[in-house]
Amino acid sequence: MKNHGSNNSQKDRAIIVTGLTKKFGDFIAVDNISFDVKRGEIFGFLGPNGSGKSTTIRMLCGVMDITGGSANVANFDVSKQPEEIKKRIGYMSQKFSLYQDLTVNENLTFYGGIYNVPHDIFPQRRREILAMSGLSGRENELTANLSVGWRQRLALGCAIIHQPEIIFLDEPTAGVDPISRRRFWEMLYDMANKGTTLFVTTHYMEEAEHCHRLGFIYQGKIIAFDTPKNIKKLITENLYMIVCENKEKAVAVLEKVDIVDTAYIYGSIIHLNVGARQDVADALTTALKSANIPCKQVELIKPSLEDVFVSLIEKQESGL
Ligand SMILES: Nc1ncnc2c1ncn2[C@@H]1O[C@H](COP(=O)(O)OP(=O)(O)OP(=O)(O)O)[C@@H](O)[C@H]1O
Ligand SMILES: [Mg+2]
Repeated sequence: MKNHGSNNSQKDRAIIVTGLTKKFGDFIAVDNISFDVKRGEIFGFLGPNGSGKSTTIRMLCGVMDITGGSANVANFDVSKQPEEIKKRIGYMSQKFSLYQDLTVNENLTFYGGIYNVPHDIFPQRRREILAMSGLSGRENELTANLSVGWRQRLALGCAIIHQPEIIFLDEPTAGVDPISRRRFWEMLYDMANKGTTLFVTTHYMEEAEHCHRLGFIYQGKIIAFDTPKNIKKLITENLYMIVCENKEKAVAVLEKVDIVDTAYIYGSIIHLNVGARQDVADALTTALKSANIPCKQVELIKPSLEDVFVSLIEKQESGL
């Protein structure tokens, strides 16, 4: 079993996961994973749909039984002391549970009650959350009338009303525009700077870049675990980018060229992995030209996190 842990002592680590496993019947959703998250760290948990991210988070929050292994969160065992853990964490679930028919203020009051925030402290906490989320002055607006980005900030506010040590955020910015996402991440940085540990899942690679460390999970197994900088070093092959018309047809053509290992659409352009081969720009241009696809630009590039992601999954699927 590979352990992706650091060598820090237990007190420096907010989360310690050892051989954690979850089965649903015969299906293994989380398969013997081991890693740790340091205190004050922003940890990014990445993986394709259905890879086991939410299931892992639910087990770590003490809301889902584990099938095997163990996990320690804020120094408490998830199987034996889930109630102690619930007091010390905030959980913003993928389908977060704000009450749409309550106002901003009423949602905060409701969650203050759920998390047992003392009455004499609550007004001050509410003021802090409203200021941090930019919702001051909108206390009496109905949650249903807030746009998605604002609702997300309110959901975060509700999840942290009791000042938890560790916050689990499951795709907190899905469907949120780039400016609102940036505002949301500023709130996360602020909290991390004050010592809070953040465990975040996201499908946005630019957000992953901003995490201190990342874990990639695929079919329930962790296939990479490191800083974003080191993870990008996992691609040692040469990568090219191509700008051309008719990307789908171009990818189909390029995949058949023997100097190309993989070709895929990357936003508005194409990325290609050509293995150890060098100086292949002319050969790529010629291959496209013979298929009547004019090529506007071909360039050797440095891999992004998304490229690493694609490459790791390709390697897993081809059994390399
Ligand atoms: N309660 C359940 N019963 C049976 N299978 C489940 C249950 N919860 C999750 N699964 C399965 O476990 C696998 C992992 O699901 P999970 O929700 O953890 O994935 P995820 O990585 O969070 O995906 P996404 O990016 O789509 O949110 C999936 O195949 C899912 O169908
Ligand atoms: Mg999920």
